[in-house]
Amino acid sequence: MGITSTTAHLLFILSCCFTSLVAARVKLLEAVPTASFAPNTAVCDAGRLGSQGLDVTKLGYCEKSLSYYDRAKMLVDGMTLDEKVQQLGDRAAGVARLGLPPYLWWSEALHGVSDTGHGTVFNATVPGATSFPTVIVTAATFNESLWKTIGQVVSTEARAMFNLGNTGLTFWSPNINVVRDPRWGRVMETPGEDPFVVARYSVNYVRGLQDLEGAETATDLNSRPLKTAACCKHYAAYDLDNWLGVDRWHFNANVTEQDMSETFSYPFEICVREGDASSAMCSFNRVNGIPVCADPKLMKQSMRDEWGLHGYIVSDCDSIEVIVDGQKWLGDTEVDAVAQVMKAGLDLDCGKYYTNFGKAAVEQGKIKESDIDNALKNLYVVLMRLGYFDGMPMFDSLGKQDICSADNMELAAEAARQGIVLLKNNATLPFTNVNTLAVVGPHANATDAMIGNYAGLDTSQEREGVDRVDLNLPGYQTQLINQVAMVSKGPVVLVVLTAGVLDIGFARDNPNIDAIIWAGYPGQEGGQAIADILFGKYNPGGRLPLTWYQANYVDQVPMTSMLLRPDDTLGYPGRTYKFFNGTTVYPFGYGLSYSTYNYTIPFTSPRSVNIKLGKLQHCRDLTFNDGAFRPACPAVLVEDTACEEEFDFEVDVFNNGTMDGAHVVMVYSTPPSGIARTHAKKVIGFQRVFVPAGQTTTVKFTFNVCKSLSIVDYNAYTLLPSGGHTITVDNGLDGLTFPFQVNFVADEDTA
Ligand SMILES: *[C@@H]1O[C@H](CO)[C@@H](O)[C@H](O)[C@H]1NC(C)=O
Ligand SMILES: *[C@@H]1O[C@H](CO)[C@@H](O)[C@H](O)[C@H]1NC(C)=O
Ligand SMILES: *[C@@H]1O[C@H](CO)[C@@H](O)[C@H](O)[C@H]1NC(C)=O
Ligand SMILES: *[C@@H]1O[C@H](CO)[C@@H](O)[C@H](O)[C@H]1NC(C)=O
Ligand SMILES: *[C@@H]1O[C@H](CO)[C@@H](O)[C@H](O)[C@H]1NC(C)=O
Ligand SMILES: *[C@@H]1O[C@H](CO)[C@@H](O)[C@H](O)[C@H]1NC(C)=O
Ligand SMILES: *[C@@H]1O[C@H](CO)[C@@H](O)[C@H](O)[C@H]1NC(C)=O
Ligand SMILES: *[C@@H]1O[C@H](CO)[C@@H](O)[C@H](O)[C@H]1NC(C)=O
Repeated sequence: MGITSTTAHLLFILSCCFTSLVAARVKLLEAVPTASFAPNTAVCDAGRLGSQGLDVTKLGYCEKSLSYYDRAKMLVDGMTLDEKVQQLGDRAAGVARLGLPPYLWWSEALHGVSDTGHGTVFNATVPGATSFPTVIVTAATFNESLWKTIGQVVSTEARAMFNLGNTGLTFWSPNINVVRDPRWGRVMETPGEDPFVVARYSVNYVRGLQDLEGAETATDLNSRPLKTAACCKHYAAYDLDNWLGVDRWHFNANVTEQDMSETFSYPFEICVREGDASSAMCSFNRVNGIPVCADPKLMKQSMRDEWGLHGYIVSDCDSIEVIVDGQKWLGDTEVDAVAQVMKAGLDLDCGKYYTNFGKAAVEQGKIKESDIDNALKNLYVVLMRLGYFDGMPMFDSLGKQDICSADNMELAAEAARQGIVLLKNNATLPFTNVNTLAVVGPHANATDAMIGNYAGLDTSQEREGVDRVDLNLPGYQTQLINQVAMVSKGPVVLVVLTAGVLDIGFARDNPNIDAIIWAGYPGQEGGQAIADILFGKYNPGGRLPLTWYQANYVDQVPMTSMLLRPDDTLGYPGRTYKFFNGTTVYPFGYGLSYSTYNYTIPFTSPRSVNIKLGKLQHCRDLTFNDGAFRPACPAVLVEDTACEEEFDFEVDVFNNGTMDGAHVVMVYSTPPSGIARTHAKKVIGFQRVFVPAGQTTTVKFTFNVCKSLSIVDYNAYTLLPSGGHTITVDNGLDGLTFPFQVNFVADEDTA
């Protein structure tokens, strides 16, 4: 390398991962049959049916004047029980007699259409689709319109692929499990550790995948048309793959009601309620002893009855088999398990249990045939909304030219540029006057590793099925970095490719390492994006969507502990920025830029709100720390409150640099002091704004008092505390704070 004599700029491209292995769903991929990808001819196309000797006018399910529900019912009522169970697995057989073709339900589009799953194929016709950065990088942009735009482009490529016969229309994305523990192997697939941010990501991405312009809202959600069908997964409390011998198929997540409502299920609720996702997936693991897919409270009652899911619920692949063979839950037979999950609300089995044992479950009286009918109706209504039966002419012209187009690849590059986070810059970047540049490290010529998983390849250290055991760089990478930095005569920049957090405190504090960039797995255009940032073609503005803990964090709490709050008796620190108060390598939300941004908040709008309490509205008590002030009426139940009050403010953001830049303004609320075991703060809003050099951009925020200032108590009630809350407007380094007072007053009309 000639390091001792070099005066070249040095660029490390390093990360925790440097080999690529084949993906995880090992068990499942064995038995893939030659998929029959139906070309895009609508099921009810008269010519298609005619060629099979069927008359469209005689098929009630093709009668367009009827509702989708009624048509689905006619289709299902026309099937025998044997035929019905053949449609309940992800590889649905179809019913030739009725003109119903086979359908492959399992496709994935986590960060671009992928050929993971049976429902999508890449071949000479469509060799690949645009691969956007992994979700953790896209999350770091904190740009909601980008999240939606990527979803729109992915669904356009998907419709084009559907026209060419290369994919179905049902995509089991996004992955919206909150990152509870930094060791989790699937961090790259997710939008990070904050439930609010994850929820906002889910709404935008789902709407991008699903919505047709003009049909975003509809009075009848059972007939709202869908561009493609998205899926909120994996519900719930799933974020352990395989850690020191504990795997996701056997793991029993002990979760408090408080954490469930506040953290684990929150993004799913929002994904369904605000995203109107047409599907959700239950996870492998058990929650408090019960396999999620078999728990009617989590499944039917929460998702369908409370949140109003309009769509279908699918199992993670082979979940029912896992209940029987892995978890040996209740000593279930195959038939028992099939009956339990169906009664809990599972409509579609990614696997073969429904197909193989569904008939016996009816014959043995463990379920009713009408249970199967209901599941099938949920499935066919979604396919009808997708135009699978009637066609969707507005997409007919999409084809090869719409897949991996120059515009789409530019969006992938743009997403990577927006998401990359500048962690350190000791007056070195952007590079100017660089004559020679040495690129060192295992990822110096990375190709596959840039892409992340759910794109046909995986990584060796973190991926589905593999959690990490420490937060250090693998092998001798730390030593390599330190030694090279010590002898290098030119400036040294460290570029870290990793999804999960790493303790790189050694590099942060090393004066010979001049700058650090986190690029996650930045997707197919990631290399270009890194260069654009290094050379100042783009002013970095990404912010970390995860707390970067110190390496000793993993010694303080086992990965199997689901507790978010600290446990003093067990010595567990809290998790995520909301509950961890220790020292970090970099905090959640951290991110530098080539500019600095300073804020002014003009105090024009009120800094307090009076909430009128109705006659029958009770004050709720809260637990306070010893000696803390206890107001006369500590809190009210949000559910009992009209919650129409809002507050708003403007932030003037000044770009005090010489480069234009995009900047993320993040807003947190902190509850009144003294309330025991509540969050330190929580994100209540964020906006990414463009601010030209030397200029000011004004950003306006509006917040609902109940949503933004509430806490979740021990009993999982969402409560609005009275007293002095604190609002923090944060620029990635520091922030401005101001108090916001909540008062309860008796409503004179009712008092
Ligand atoms: C690619 O796969 C699709 C779906 O099976 C098929 O229609 C198409 O003919 C295939 N293309 C080539 C070149 O094999
Ligand atoms: C957010 O992303 C969109 C792309 O969808 C882009 O046009 C816009 O400039 C981004 N906003 C900022 C402030 O970077
Ligand atoms: C980088 O990798 C590509 C693809 O594996 C290879 O063709 C090329 O020679 C490599 N370049 C260097 C400088 O190693
Ligand atoms: C930044 O560079 C200066 C000058 O080389 C050095 O003294 C200082 O320690 C560096 N700071 C860090 C945090 O690396
Ligand atoms: C979960 O709770 C059960 C029942 O109390 C207990 O047996 C099990 O060890 C707990 N698991 C973990 C990981 O704490
Ligand atoms: C941080 O949390 C721990 C665990 O609850 C607590 O013992 C400690 O006092 C807290 N430290 C600070 C500075 O708040
Ligand atoms: C930011 O700081 C600059 C210079 O320090 C000052 O001129 C400007 O008024 C400030 N702007 C805001 C919005 O705080
Ligand atoms: C703005 O930049 C100037 C020059 O770098 C610096 O002296 C000043 O402190 C900065 N102002 C703020 C508010 O950051």
